[in-house]
Formats: sequence, structure tokens, C-alpha cells
Amino acid sequence: MSSSSSSTDQFTAELQQIRGFIANGQLQEAAQALNVAQQRAPKDARVPLLGMRLAESVGNLPNATKAARRALALAPGWHVAQIELALLLARQKEADEAMRLAMEALANAPKDVQVMAGAINVAFFSGQTDQTLAWAEEGVRRFPDNAGVRLFLARHLSSLGRHDDAAAHLQYIHQRAPHHDETLKGLLNCALAKGDEAQAREYADRLLAVTPYDDTARYWHAVAHGQTPATQPPELVSSLFDDYAPNFDLHLVRGLQYRVPERVAQILLEKHPDRRFNLLDLGCGTGLIGFYLGPIEGFIVGADLSEKMIEEAARHGIYAKFHRVNVLDALRETPSDHYEAITCTDVLIYVGDLAPVIPNALRILKPGGHFVFSCEAASEDEADLVLREKVNRYAHKASAVERQCREAGFDEVIVEHLPTLRTEGGTPVPGFLVTARKPQVAPAA
Ligand SMILES: C[S@@+](CC[C@H](N)C(=O)[O-])C[C@H]1O[C@@H](n2cnc3c(N)ncnc32)[C@H](O)[C@@H]1O
Repeated sequence: MSSSSSSTDQFTAELQQIRGFIANGQLQEAAQALNVAQQRAPKDARVPLLGMRLAESVGNLPNATKAARRALALAPGWHVAQIELALLLARQKEADEAMRLAMEALANAPKDVQVMAGAINVAFFSGQTDQTLAWAEEGVRRFPDNAGVRLFLARHLSSLGRHDDAAAHLQYIHQRAPHHDETLKGLLNCALAKGDEAQAREYADRLLAVTPYDDTARYWHAVAHGQTPATQPPELVSSLFDDYAPNFDLHLVRGLQYRVPERVAQILLEKHPDRRFNLLDLGCGTGLIGFYLGPIEGFIVGADLSEKMIEEAARHGIYAKFHRVNVLDALRETPSDHYEAITCTDVLIYVGDLAPVIPNALRILKPGGHFVFSCEAASEDEADLVLREKVNRYAHKASAVERQCREAGFDEVIVEHLPTLRTEGGTPVPGFLVTARKPQVAPAA
């Protein structure tokens, strides 16, 4: 490739400076310098590749893809352009072309760990679980001491329920880097998933010693020591769902028989047959509620902590706006009497304590509006709020939730018990759906 002539020449230094501009968010400087670079070296594939990074940094995936294609046209067979284009295509669900390019890049640069990591991500974003596993295992064989690739494999194995295999890889990293917090978190999670409480406590203590001010470490420490924290730290939720986003719909809806958004859309349309209402979808995820509702006369606002889930939801083209926010903040900050409906499905299992949720939902709704939400069911002889530590999700007691809704001021509270909220390892997880109505007229003071 012509552009690889000299890595230390003046032009290369200029390109590195542009890369720095993009990384620092100096986008105007980057755009100006890129224009100059483009005029000076119109055949250098590195220039459009930087254009791709610039477009990507402002979330413009179509332009980023165009730029990556231009780079590849200028330098056919260049593994860097191949893998970058493959990653972009995989994010846009162009799985066939993405996988083909990833394979070509791997064949062209078998010793490049970045290409290996890129290919694993391409398979993952393309929803190819088997290929993701095969390439992650191949990556560990080729680059045994690369912690990133091994950590990815461990996480993937854990997500497949193979906690012993995951723990073996995590141990490998842990022995070489005993203070690596992500590895300790992984080991702690494996111990919790296997029900090994003593081991979980040990890892939790070590984790807290390494990162004493990290909210996630504090959370895991409390869990491993048998406490029930009121809620999960936002970073924990966003990283979980950023990883989960590409395969969420496929996994949850088809694999785990998750039907709640469909049912909720049905309830909302029964309440609003003319489709005239505004909806706040808390923890909107990939936008399944919007998908099942279809276009409505009002606007749908999605709130979620995970950027990648929001990216998926935006693809439906049904939501008017998204906020990347903790639902607890969204609930606190949204003005009163604002929405005809609020939904929150499969989210409170991560939010936990409903004390800040239910009264705010009531406040935000217009009179006569509905709050429709789902919970995993704790049995009536358990506590009102239970943390299922093996899976790290909260379960709520239906009678307590109903009481909280009535005490907050909802005047009609319908609880629909769902024997199968979704399945877990083939076993139904029971849950319930609540439809709570705000009174038409505020009760006299
Ligand atoms: C299992 S998904 C459900 C998504 C969607 N409501 C549905 O039913 O398909 C849970 C979603 O809630 C989001 N979430 C969990 N806790 C949250 C919080 N405290 N604030 C904002 N979003 C949260 C996650 O990022 C994820 O997108």
C-alpha cells in the first residue's frame, strides 16, 4: 500500500496530529486538517480512514462507512481498512459483508492482535455466537498473553453459563496481574454464579482493596457479603447492556421467550385506540415497546443508560428522542403532568428499590395516565425486595409493589401475574406486570 511508505515522515506526523484532534474532541481542527491532507495526498488510504473516525466520533455511521469504503478502494487488501469497515457494517447489521471482510483481514494479518480483536467483535456484533466463541478461542491460542482477548473469551464463556471455563481463563490473567480489577470482578461473578459464597467474599475483599472508591466494587462487595444494595451502579448496567445490545432482541425475544413489550403495547393501544398519547419509555433498551406499538400520534421518548441499546432502538425510527440517563434521574427531573403513559419493562430488575420510582411516575403522569411496568416475582414469604445474586437481578414481591402504588396515590392498580416473564436456562422465570392509573382528579387535600 502506497501509504505505508514511511511511518516517520512529516505527513504521517500530520495524520497522527489529526488523530489526536479527533480523540480530544477538537473536531473542527480535525476536519480542517483532514481537508488539507486530502488535497495533498488524495490517494493515501489513511486519510479517508481518519475521515471515518471523525464521522464515527459524531455518530454518523453512514458517512463513516462511506469513508471506510473509500479507504479500502484506495488500498484493496489493506487489513486495517478491511477490519474497520467490517466493524462498521456489523454494527449496522450488514453481517454477511462484515464477516467476509473480517475473514479476509484475518487471512491478511494473522499476527495482528488488533485485527484478531476486531474480528471477534465483528462476529459478536453480527450475532454469530459460535463464530464469536471460535475466534475468541483462536485469539487466545494466537495471543496467549493478551489480557483483552482472554478477558473477552472469559466473559463470553460466562454468558454461555460456562463459569468454570471462564474462571480458568480469568485465573490465568489474575496470576500475571493480581490487581487487575476487571479480572477480579470476573472471578467474583463466576463465584457468585456458582454459589461459592466464600470464594466470592474473598475476591470481593481483594477487589475493594484494589479499587476502594469504585461504586461497582463497593456494590459487589456488599452483594458478596450478603447485603442487598438499594440499586445497581449505573456503570455496571451500561457496560452490561453495551455488551448485550447487538444480540439483545435475538437472544431475549426469540431465545428466552420474552413477550412483555408486545403485551404492554397491546395494553397501551387498548387505553389509547386513537394512538394519541405521549409515552416515556424508561429503560427503553432496543426499543421493543416502540417496535410493537408502531407509529403513534404523540411522541415516544426513550431513556436508557446504555448508548449501544439506544443505538439499536434508534434504528426503528419510532422514538422521537432519547436521553442517555439513569431512570432514577429521569424520574426525578421530568416535569409534572407530562405524559399520558410511562413504561418500564424488565428494567426494575436492575433498579431495585421502587421508593424513588413509583411516586415520581405518578407525579410525571397526566391525570388518568398509566404507569405500566414489569418485575420479576419474589415469593410472598420472601422480603419485599430480593437480590438474586447468581444472576444479579432484583425480584419484587407483588403485594408490596401493589401497596406501594396505592400508597403513592394510584387509584387503579392491576397486577397481571406472568408465569413466564422469560426463561432462564430453559426454566420459566415468573414475574408480573403492573398497570397503575393516576386519578383523573387529584384527591382533595
Ligand atoms: C432487559 S433490558 C429491557 C429493555 C426494554 N425495556 C425491553 O423490555 O425490551 C433493560 C434495559 O434497562 C436499562 N437500564 C437498567 N437499569 C437502568 C437505569 N438505572 N437507568 C437507565 N436504564 C437502565 C438497560 O440499559 C437496558 O437497556
